[in-house]
Amino acid sequence: MIFERFETCPDAEALAAAAAARILTLGLAAVQAHGLFRLALAGGDTPRRCYERLRASNFDWSRVEIYFGDERCLPRGDSRRNDTMAGQAWLNHIALPSGNYHPIPAELGAEAAAEAYAEVLRPGLPLDLVLLGLGEDGHTASLFPGNAALHQAQPVVPVHAAPKPPAERVSLSLGVLNAARHKLFLVSGAGKRDVLQRLATEPDLPAARIRGAEWLVDRAAWPER
Ligand code: 6PG
Repeated sequence: MIFERFETCPDAEALAAAAAARILTLGLAAVQAHGLFRLALAGGDTPRRCYERLRASNFDWSRVEIYFGDERCLPRGDSRRNDTMAGQAWLNHIALPSGNYHPIPAELGAEAAAEAYAEVLRPGLPLDLVLLGLGEDGHTASLFPGNAALHQAQPVVPVHAAPKPPAERVSLSLGVLNAARHKLFLVSGAGKRDVLQRLATEPDLPAARIRGAEWLVDRAAWPER
């Protein structure tokens, strides 16, 4: 079953608030259980408002290890990178120790970055929570339908020929995403209505292959039935 838990929110702001609350709840539980909260962030635009809301939290960020679910092969600091968005929205505004921040070195190119990040990530596995977005074609992280990266076994995979620019990316593998203790999808906007409907009948879509995930979806993406 792909929808372990499916909650609809009235609008994008309510989705951001619910996501921030869920992240903090799972973070506290992780810290209480094993002293750390290992969190992989989603890219794209949807999580931005949730990240902004997390600035105000008094969470002990020194207990948080920040990873990324995927990254675009662009120069460090490029405005289109997922870590640039997360930094501007949230991470640049909190007291996160520099040693707890683990960006994907995607500027090295897909192959070299995947190899290097696997070494960074390995001691932190399994992750406590992976945040995920949903693409209109059913992709998640940088795992795209029909792309060879979906079938690779190593923990971090190089992605070539991605249909969503840039073509060159790096992604956590399906195996690492599924091994996370919790997976939380954030889905917002009418543009995601069709793909949400497809997930139930197209199990090979990358997002449908994430098992036991929690879904936070706004009404625009999941209208009242
Ligand atoms: C990326 C993300 C990608 C994103 C989805 C949804 O690099 O773009 O990793 O998986 O989460 O495409 O993007 P939006 O939230 O912008 O709709």
